[in-house]
Amino acid sequence: MRIAVSPGSFDPVTLGHLDIIERAAYIYDKVIVGIAKSPVKEPLFSLEERLGMVTDSISGIDNVDVDFFDTLLVEFARKHGATVIVKGLRAISDFEHEFQMAHLNKKLDSRLETVFMMASPEFMFLSSSAVKEIASFGGSVKGLVSDKVAAHLSDKFRKAL
Ligand code: PNS
Repeated sequence: MRIAVSPGSFDPVTLGHLDIIERAAYIYDKVIVGIAKSPVKEPLFSLEERLGMVTDSISGIDNVDVDFFDTLLVEFARKHGATVIVKGLRAISDFEHEFQMAHLNKKLDSRLETVFMMASPEFMFLSSSAVKEIASFGGSVKGLVSDKVAAHLSDKFRKAL
């Protein structure tokens, strides 16, 4: 059984994330979406909210589960018996940081491989940060996140006013 982890902050989960998760689920027997607690990044959404949005988004895919972690990614992968870390790669600007993380994770656990999937062209420039910025100014995030996540975003920014 080939198990992969798909890690991130998912603050919030975008259609770009879901594209990678769905494609990974097609290749691997099981995919565990790992939501990093990431307190240092001061996420807009609480861990519970991020878990809820991801759980909702993956409900139609049988071989995908979600869990959170507050440890090294390699420990999270080991806990789930995963042998692969799947990451989406967008524009060239992602490369250096992802390259560094892949090498460090390999150093921490040499049995764990990082596999990069090219983001689909329509999601090449999509990020959670951009989505939050657009939503904070009341712009439309249609086609970037699910309708439910869009509703969570407008709710969050309405409350912040
Ligand atoms: O969506 P993000 O915020 O870019 O995801 C980054 C994430 C959570 C995958 C990365 O920060 C991570 O793996 N954090 C866990 C801590 C860890 O293992 N650090 C060492 C890797 S270099």
